Amino acid sequence: MCGIVGYIGNKQAFPILLKGLKRLEYRGYDSAGIAVLNGNLHVYKKAGKVSELEEFTDGKDVSATIGIGHTRWATHGVPNDVNAHPHLSNSGDLALIHNGIIENYDSIKKELIKRGYTFKSDTDTEVLVNLIEEVRKQDKLSLEDAVRSALNEVVGAYAIVVIDRHDPDHLIAARKGSPMVIGIGEGEFFIASDASPIVEYTKNVIYLDDQEYACISRDGSYHIKTLGNIEKSHAIQKLELSLEAIEKSGFDHFMLKEIYEQPKVIADALRGRMNAEQGWIKLGGLSEYTNRINTANRIIISACGTSWHSALLGEYLIEDLARVPVEVEYASEFRYRNPIIGEKDVMIAISQSGETADTLAAIELAKDRQALIYGICNVIGSSIARISHAGSYTHAGPEIGVASTKAFTAQITILTLIALQIAKEKGTISVSKLREILYELEHMPQKIEATLKLDKQIQEIAAIYKDASNFLYLGRGYNFPVALEGALKLKEISYIHAEGYPAAEMKHGPIALIDENMPVVFLATNASAYEKIVSNIQEVKARKGKVIAVVNEGDTHIRTMADHIIEVPATEEVLSPLVTIVPLQLLSYHIAILRGCNVDQPRNLAKSVTVE
Ligand code: AGP
Repeated sequence: MCGIVGYIGNKQAFPILLKGLKRLEYRGYDSAGIAVLNGNLHVYKKAGKVSELEEFTDGKDVSATIGIGHTRWATHGVPNDVNAHPHLSNSGDLALIHNGIIENYDSIKKELIKRGYTFKSDTDTEVLVNLIEEVRKQDKLSLEDAVRSALNEVVGAYAIVVIDRHDPDHLIAARKGSPMVIGIGEGEFFIASDASPIVEYTKNVIYLDDQEYACISRDGSYHIKTLGNIEKSHAIQKLELSLEAIEKSGFDHFMLKEIYEQPKVIADALRGRMNAEQGWIKLGGLSEYTNRINTANRIIISACGTSWHSALLGEYLIEDLARVPVEVEYASEFRYRNPIIGEKDVMIAISQSGETADTLAAIELAKDRQALIYGICNVIGSSIARISHAGSYTHAGPEIGVASTKAFTAQITILTLIALQIAKEKGTISVSKLREILYELEHMPQKIEATLKLDKQIQEIAAIYKDASNFLYLGRGYNFPVALEGALKLKEISYIHAEGYPAAEMKHGPIALIDENMPVVFLATNASAYEKIVSNIQEVKARKGKVIAVVNEGDTHIRTMADHIIEVPATEEVLSPLVTIVPLQLLSYHIAILRGCNVDQPRNLAKSVTVE
């Protein structure tokens, strides 16, 4: 939702903070700010992107070896200079940055106003920094104790860093429900929402647990405590991240880089987890709970957004291959509809960031009712990875583009392995069929490489339809969730309205939308429903709709009726989404570029929705 960075050490803080904010900008980018402490507390903050903040600070006094920075996705208060972080307390002594949401900020604000506090912004964060100030003043506490005491009063999620004008040798970082990584360098510390601002300085990191804080000192020492004032210690972990992984590596945008990384991502997701020749699958977390999973009443897959589309594919795969009942739930709905779930159920929670608030809440609910939680996450050490009983990392590497691409195909790869493993355990798939599918999976990277070669052709199609006001995406079976995902991709980066539908649903209303101005993308690779999808194409053509059809290589029949044909390598039907999604990712990318949209940082969006 927002990005936070902090630094204390022997280097100039400002350049480190600024660069760190640029690496975190994908998390939120409607305003940004930095505070540095060099005897005085200098706060520079601006609506707009980090680059505008950089221009604004040109020539200003930014020399300091301690500071904090923030890039925002607005929750409380419009994106403007005043609402940008860092926020100062009334005395001007404390500066604080915050990722998350303080749910009871209003009652706290009213009480502080009664005690004479004034507020410049509409944010919950400014309330928090003044609560800390008031607690410190009233109870004559150290900053550390005041932070602990104040956080015990707030309800909500936070990752905060706070500094004190009168103490340039310490900063305090605390988290609950929002991500935070602490990098430990040589006599210096880095704090950030994720590892991307840290990895070029140190690979030694620690992760705070929820409701913990770290008091970090310039002398290289630190201590960690819970909000209950209990000392804690965390092992230093080594980051697996590389600097190259968070750069664009010559691509114009992170999204395009990540689309092109998919062959490698699939290979990485499979590495050490399967062997087609010998017919085995090895998913650490799964084998630990084989019995519970194989005897589950149901598997409930919960997620949001693109991860929900992966979840729907998970349902198709597990029911088709392993014959286990599966239900897919929007996490935001599941958490509030008083669902039926118990110890005989398994919840698979899918989340690229591992920080999505609704998915976290759905897990908490399921966990409270004794269900087994299996997490599929991309970010190592993320909250969802840490609260799941077991799980698999997708190993897709950092996904910086707000529109999820490689994480989606990595998620489906893991779900395919899960479905195959359960099917193998339950004997619902023959050894020969299992090996056939695993063999095809093993060669999937090459098929995606071949599909990426269609980029130029897809760019030409994008140029024809870039000004369309609406799109429809239609698919059947395994290609229906792909249709949903293709529509979401187009919506979120080109701002064109698009809907995904089961192809057969057209007749139940949406066909009224079809005319010569409606481009319809058909996913028509499935052999099992081929004739049906051909009829659907003809229904659209009969109403002058423009048809863009994704077909198997060598398909000569649909070519006679579609306006545009995109031929992709044929594969096992259960694996087809790994191939058919790629042209749709490229189509949305090129249309967005041609429309002058900001592909990596689309308007109104953030990479990780860590608030409800
Ligand atoms: C996908 O392109 C979007 N950025 C969004 O729908 C995303 O998939 C959703 O917010 C879920 O995020 P997560 O996978 O990190 O939980």
